[in-house]
Amino acid sequence: MKGRGIGFGKAILFNEHFVVYGIPSIVSAIGNYTVAHIEPYEKPEINLIDNRKATPQYKEDKYEQQHDSLNRILTKMNIDPKKQGLAITLEGNLYAASGIGASAASCVAIARALNQFYNMNLKDEEINEIAYEGEKGYHGNPSGVDNTASTYGGLIWFQKGDQNEIERIEIPNPIEIVIGNTGKIANTKAAVAGVRERKENNPRKYEEIFDRAENITYLAKQALEDEDHKEIGKLMNENHKLLQQIEVSSKELDFLVNIARENGALGAKLTGGGLGGNMIALTPKRELQERVATSIEKEGFQTIKTVIGATRGGYEG
Ligand code: MEV
Repeated sequence: MKGRGIGFGKAILFNEHFVVYGIPSIVSAIGNYTVAHIEPYEKPEINLIDNRKATPQYKEDKYEQQHDSLNRILTKMNIDPKKQGLAITLEGNLYAASGIGASAASCVAIARALNQFYNMNLKDEEINEIAYEGEKGYHGNPSGVDNTASTYGGLIWFQKGDQNEIERIEIPNPIEIVIGNTGKIANTKAAVAGVRERKENNPRKYEEIFDRAENITYLAKQALEDEDHKEIGKLMNENHKLLQQIEVSSKELDFLVNIARENGALGAKLTGGGLGGNMIALTPKRELQERVATSIEKEGFQTIKTVIGATRGGYEG
């Protein structure tokens, strides 16, 4: 008996944080993914072997959250490791870092692998719901945007609600992006809580920012469908400004965003929870992608070169 499953990494193109309050967001799966393998384990317990490459200290910092998440997944799937011990191995080419959906990708990969191991025949919708439960271990009260991208792949319009609105955005051609890692581990839960507190203290200011964020998503969807790269980039820059205003950027993120723009990126912004983690730059065509990635790497930061909008997140396996 064996089980295997994958979950995509993701990059939020528009409206991380705002999405928590029901503002629409746009997210893309990326070509990097986490794979989970499951085999029987001789003791009546879980043996979790995490072989993912990671930002230093990431795994140690997330250790408790990871175990909380795993327990939630098992409970949701009605699986009792005391009846059947399980060895779960995580690997794949998605770096375990903040902002690129590492937690969601691992939840989806584990849910899929368990589904295969126990022959449960679950649909994507069910995998997504299980991964959402798992994400609670990391985020507390996640919007669901990350696990949705990790499950379905591709480019997605996501709006949280009583019934989440999940719509695939079709674009004529995938677009190259560069993701830059500040190397700082971020606590999404704390970042989300900080926004909530400041929003409650400054309702007028935040209302204006939130209105503009909402507006940007509609413009961005149109620009994506029209392949208007310049406009997409401009809107990403504006989105970053709004994220700065709600105080979830950091000096390292702003530094990488500026390097990307100075080297020709059409737009750049933080991606994910912020306060560290990763940023994303829009760099259509390989040449520009290479130039921007090199400029970030020269400063000593790691990058991912991938695309947004590829079918199934660019995973061809
Ligand atoms: C984290 O990748 C995205 C946030 O908007 C949190 C969430 O949506 O749950 C910051």
